[in-house]
Amino acid sequence: IPLHLPWIDAINKLKKQRGAVIMAHSYQSPEIFHGVADITGDSLGLAQAAADCDADLIVLCGVHFMAETAKILAPHKTVLIPDPEAGCSLASSITAADVLALRARHPGVPVVSYANTSAAVKAESDAICTSANAVQVVEAMGSAKVIFLPDEYLGRHVAGQTRVELVLWRGRCEVHEKFTAQQARHAREQFDALLVAHPECPPEVLAEVDFVGSTTAMGKWLEREKPARVALITECSMADNLRAQFPATEFIKPCNLCPHMQRITLPKIYEALRDMKHAVEVPSHVAGRARAALQRMLAVGR
Ligand code: 13P
Ligand code: SF4
Repeated sequence: IPLHLPWIDAINKLKKQRGAVIMAHSYQSPEIFHGVADITGDSLGLAQAAADCDADLIVLCGVHFMAETAKILAPHKTVLIPDPEAGCSLASSITAADVLALRARHPGVPVVSYANTSAAVKAESDAICTSANAVQVVEAMGSAKVIFLPDEYLGRHVAGQTRVELVLWRGRCEVHEKFTAQQARHAREQFDALLVAHPECPPEVLAEVDFVGSTTAMGKWLEREKPARVALITECSMADNLRAQFPATEFIKPCNLCPHMQRITLPKIYEALRDMKHAVEVPSHVAGRARAALQRMLAVGR
């Protein structure tokens, strides 16, 4: 962090002048997460924070669907994303036309979409969920069958925890799909570590671990269990950010970085605040329907 101090100071000064709130996802690098963010969290936490935020200006340090969600939930605020090219392999795995085709194939079956989708896909969905509340949202639909998109692995994990039948899509997180069961076993055997994984990992990885949870749930699990050694099988900025909070725990890193999350840097955050760019806009006919689906998720909570 010392290397980054001039940027951190400049951003924090400009942030105050502008009356902005900086929100950062847990996969942001430590200099952003600890240095300039006012609010940090998983994608559900950031959506809730945007809906409740008092400031008129939000800088969302995360990927594009997170900034879009913030704009949809806070339509009268300005939401800036420091790099609009920060995408997500799950969000780009499905279009609104794909959702309509699935609906035509399964008439009357409600659609629950993962937050990792475009605003246009959200607008064609009945409800949104994140990995923190997927089972609860699926069950809140009150239907024996639900179309669940686009993450196949998260869908399989959810299907294992509910009697609701799920129709799945073949979307994958390009970061989490790379982890292998062998890596997980290696961390346990070589380092005597407990294992925690994000539900976007392949099923054979989830079968090896002690706990499966969203980014925030992982932090809570660490607070409860206080393990001597842990391997977080997820984007590796998570371990970097949590290390400061859990000094007694040793973090073993099977490491995959999300290239989209890493596009957000201190200089780009500074430029976003200085030039008031890149403001996220969602067409009102899309935003209204996407907001209704997001509000069903917020009503379910965590
Ligand atoms: P969370 O919902 O756990 O924040 O995850 C979002 C994400 O992009 C995971 O790869
Ligand atoms: Fe998307 Fe995976 Fe990156 Fe999360 S880690 S933003 S799911 S590509």
